[in-house]
Amino acid sequence: MPSANETSKKRVAVIGVGYWGKNLVRNFYELGALAALCDSNQSLEEDYKKKYQGVKFCTNYHEVLSDPSIQAVALATPAVTHYELAKAALEAGKDVLVEKPLAIDVKHGEELVKIAETKGRILMVGHILRYHPAILKLQQLIQDGQLGKINYLYSNRLNIGKIRTEENILWSFAPHDISVILSLLNEMPTHVSCKGGAYLSSGVTDVTLSHFEFPSGVRAHIFVSWLHPFKEQKLVVVGSEKMAVFDDTVENKLVLYPHKVEWKNRIPTAVKADGEVVALDNREPLRAECQHFLDCIESRTAPVSDGREGLRVLRVLDAFQRALQNGGNAGASVTTKLEKIEQPYFVHESAYADEGARIGAGTKIWHFSHVMKGAQIGEKCVIGQNVNVDGGVLIGNNVKIQNNVSVYTGVVVEDDVFLGPSCVLTNVSNPRSQVSRHSLYESTRLRRGC
Ligand SMILES: NC(=O)c1ccc[n+]([C@@H]2O[C@H](COP(=O)([O-])OP(=O)(O)OC[C@H]3O[C@@H](n4cnc5c(N)ncnc54)[C@H](O)[C@@H]3O)[C@@H](O)[C@H]2O)c1
Repeated sequence: MPSANETSKKRVAVIGVGYWGKNLVRNFYELGALAALCDSNQSLEEDYKKKYQGVKFCTNYHEVLSDPSIQAVALATPAVTHYELAKAALEAGKDVLVEKPLAIDVKHGEELVKIAETKGRILMVGHILRYHPAILKLQQLIQDGQLGKINYLYSNRLNIGKIRTEENILWSFAPHDISVILSLLNEMPTHVSCKGGAYLSSGVTDVTLSHFEFPSGVRAHIFVSWLHPFKEQKLVVVGSEKMAVFDDTVENKLVLYPHKVEWKNRIPTAVKADGEVVALDNREPLRAECQHFLDCIESRTAPVSDGREGLRVLRVLDAFQRALQNGGNAGASVTTKLEKIEQPYFVHESAYADEGARIGAGTKIWHFSHVMKGAQIGEKCVIGQNVNVDGGVLIGNNVKIQNNVSVYTGVVVEDDVFLGPSCVLTNVSNPRSQVSRHSLYESTRLRRGC
């Protein structure tokens, strides 16, 4: 039952209440926002009517879209229907939460984003892991520099079933892993390759192994299968300082390993350390996703997994699919160049963000500024005119840096910090041109909000 503080005006209809839709129904109901249910399969009506008394059930989605009391719809119908239904809902003036993938054709995804923006509607994609406490924590740890420089990462999503015939494993499982990897790295890949095998239904791939190459030099792969002896949902991030393992099937979902590699007589030697369990809150990710959708409807702000993020994931899926088709199930690996790289941040045409710099979504970098290789800047920052950000600098979220500021290696700027015009954050107290002081760099940490 809805708790008092979760209750809000009922205004969401769930369209498609099958295997996954029932979870959306439960969450919107418990949040006090469930207005109606719609599924073309009328045999579902009786059960839903018993469970959610007083909630209207219909079989034709036009009935939902023409109801002015319904403000938003959540679509959990098969992927092939997402474009048609999401388009109709946006055009009817509804806010839309569409299950992954946003669409199955990049052009359709672009059109949906455009319609939502033109009509001022919220468009959100159900990339549930973006709302998982472990992923949110991992994102924060990476942004804070606790893992050091990210070298590579991989994600395994393996199980026996749920086997589909209308879409392959790549489109069914991998959108989650792609959305997580893109958000952790805050960059789009330049090249991908993908190989797989179809064993059950002709032409429907059951297992794929997909590789990414990112401009920063990070490499990643995703291994997905619904024809696997046991369930595994594991994401591994290998950083220069710490390695992280997110395992969604165990109690301690996020563990950090501060293993080191020491060089002895020019030979790299691993120095192993015990895992550190990271404490997490135990919110249900889907509850957080549904609440976020309601919050965005209320505040009219873009969701974390908005249409643009859905489109980035769709572009990568499309490139993987093309690679898969070009390579078949055997033979040489195929590399496909993404046709259009759309970064989630803005760099003015007179500014430089070097390859290997990591910049968060929504950040703006203005005229004549330079962000060097190895620098990390968080989300929603504003970097003014003629700013220099050195390699190794870590900048948090929502940081404002005014004109003519220099930030040198060793500086850590936490969230919400304001750097006034022309300030210089240096790292050597007595610099000399003829003496290298690289090994003597000092660090400066600007705490949150200063
Ligand atoms: N986020 C996740 O973890 C997750 C997990 C599973 C599925 N999904 C997504 O959820 C969506 C649905 O998958 P599913 O496994 O629940 O499929 P499903 O086949 O079990 O359910 C889909 C339902 O949609 C109904 N439907 C189809 N066309 C319709 C229309 N035009 N109008 C009204 N109802 C219609 C069907 O009758 C069916 O009941 C897919 O996009 C899938 O990718 C997400």
